[in-house]
Formats: sequence, structure tokens, C-alpha cells
Amino acid sequence: MVRLSNRLLAITGASSGIGRAVALQAAQQGARLALAARRLDRLRDLADQIEAAGRPRPLVVACDVRDAESVESLRQQVETMVGVPDILLVNAGRGAFRPLVELAPAEAADVIATNLTGAVFCVRAFLPGMLVRGSGQVVFVSSVLGELPAPEHAVYGATKFALTGLAESLGYELGPRGIRVTLVAPGLVSSEFAQVSGTPLVRFRQVPHQTPERVAATILRAVHRRQRYCVADRFAAVAIAFRRHCPRLAHWVFARAIARAYARHRG
Ligand SMILES: NC(=O)c1ccc[n+]([C@@H]2O[C@H](COP(=O)([O-])OP(=O)(O)OC[C@H]3O[C@@H](n4cnc5c(N)ncnc54)[C@H](OP(=O)(O)O)[C@@H]3O)[C@@H](O)[C@H]2O)c1
Repeated sequence: MVRLSNRLLAITGASSGIGRAVALQAAQQGARLALAARRLDRLRDLADQIEAAGRPRPLVVACDVRDAESVESLRQQVETMVGVPDILLVNAGRGAFRPLVELAPAEAADVIATNLTGAVFCVRAFLPGMLVRGSGQVVFVSSVLGELPAPEHAVYGATKFALTGLAESLGYELGPRGIRVTLVAPGLVSSEFAQVSGTPLVRFRQVPHQTPERVAATILRAVHRRQRYCVADRFAAVAIAFRRHCPRLAHWVFARAIARAYARHRG
């Protein structure tokens, strides 16, 4: 497989879940990699694994996307050591599964800082190099909750709705300058995300879910096809289309389905 042969892919949130799975598959497809996350030990283990498989060793950089200086340091290290990325995967993120009234203000702020401000910092940092070169692809990992509002996910969902706006705006802004913007919306994924966000494990029995590997394959297909938008969950894709085309009916149906699910859960 030489789909990504010699192209430089920078991934935020590469230490686990979807980002890690994308790194492993992209390495197999011949990509060169720059991997970022806060847990450097995890990134080093991943780099060891990729190198042991006979692929070029990825550059690994500790970075906290909530901190503009940390992101700027990531950019400097990547551009100095391996060059301007061909593809930037804006993937680092976290959830917080709780009714808003029970969500500590600091945790709400952290979700926004990671998912939205962090995404803006990362794109802002890497754009100048891509613009000078006149090519590149920015890929946002959003969520189906960025199109399907859900209870107990208000702040998380709001950050992913914001990513939809960010991606679409940037698509218009950057398209004429040679940079493609892609947004991928996964559904529920079996990663560390559930522990971090406090998502009840019963959700994995109630809702169809996918492995990070499956989502990673969808992301890389969307990259390859230079898709603007991709919902990585068939069931959710139908629900999103329903909400878009029949908003009032969809609201009525979703409200009843949610009420029934909560009643079942309580009973
Ligand atoms: N899992 C799901 O059900 C699901 C569904 C839809 C969309 N998504 C989205 O998919 C993306 C990846 O999630 P995942 O499922 O792979 O979750 P995960 O296994 O928890 O991975 C999250 C990644 O983000 C990194 N990260 C978190 N905060 C960071 C920060 N402040 N700075 C830098 N890196 C940070 C984590 O690394 P460190 O902790 O080492 O920093 C980790 O590598 C997220 O944007 C998430 O919103 C997930």
C-alpha cells in the first residue's frame, strides 16, 4: 500500500485511540509521521512499534494543545526536523458526559480549550507553512455529536458543532489557496475517550460503536479521496440527514427516543 507514500502526516492526540490507530495505518501506507500528545512515553512506545515494523521512525513531540506556546513549539520542532506537514490531523480531544448543571466550570472550560481552542491553535500554527507551499490538507476529527445534539453532552457537542463551522469557514478561505479542509465525524468509538469523559459503559450496549482501527481506516480513506465531509457511522449518517431535511419531525422523534431510553435506563 503506497497511498501516503512519503507524505508527512502530523497527528495531534496520537498517544491513544483514533490518533494512534491512524498513525499505525498511515505508517503502513508509507507516510512519514510527526506525533503529538501530552504523554510522551506513549508516543515513544508507538514510535518503537512503527520502527520495529520496518517503517521510518516518527518524530514524537510532547504537546498540550490548550497551550499556544506548546503548540508553537510543536510546529517549530516538526518544521525544523521533518518539514511542513502535507496533512495535519487535528484529533486531540476529550469529552465530559454529565448534565450541564453538574459539570464543574473548570471541566467545561477544559473541554472547550482542548477541542476548540486547541484545534484553532494547531491549524493557526501550521497554516503559514502550508500557505507558502500552496498545498496541504487539514483534517478535523469531529463527532456525530457535532450534528446530533444529545443530553449530557452539551458542552462537548457544542465544541464539535463549532468545529463544523470552523472547518466549513476554512474550506472557503483555504480552498482557493490549495489547502483542502476535511471534517470526519465518528460515532461512538471504543477508546480511552469513554473513561476520560465518564461515558457510562452501558452506552456500548445501547449504541452501535466502532473500533479506533475502523475509524482510522475511514479517516485515511477520506484523506485519500480529499473528501470535505465524512460521517464515519452509517446509523448516525441517516439520523443527521433526517435532522437536516426534516428538522421539526426529527426533533419530535429524537425527543421521544431519548425520553424512552432514559426511562428504560432508570427503570
Ligand atoms: N471515542 C469516541 O466515542 C469518539 C466519538 C466521536 C469523536 N471522537 C473524537 O475523536 C478524537 C480522538 O478521541 P479518541 O476516541 O481517540 O479518544 P482517546 O483515546 O481518549 O484519545 C484522545 C487523544 O487526545 C489527546 N489529548 C487529550 N487532551 C490533549 C491535550 N490537551 N493536548 C494534547 N493532546 C491531548 C490524548 O493524549 P494525551 O492524554 O497523551 O495528551 C489522546 O492521544 C477526539 O477529538 C474525540 O472528540 C471520539
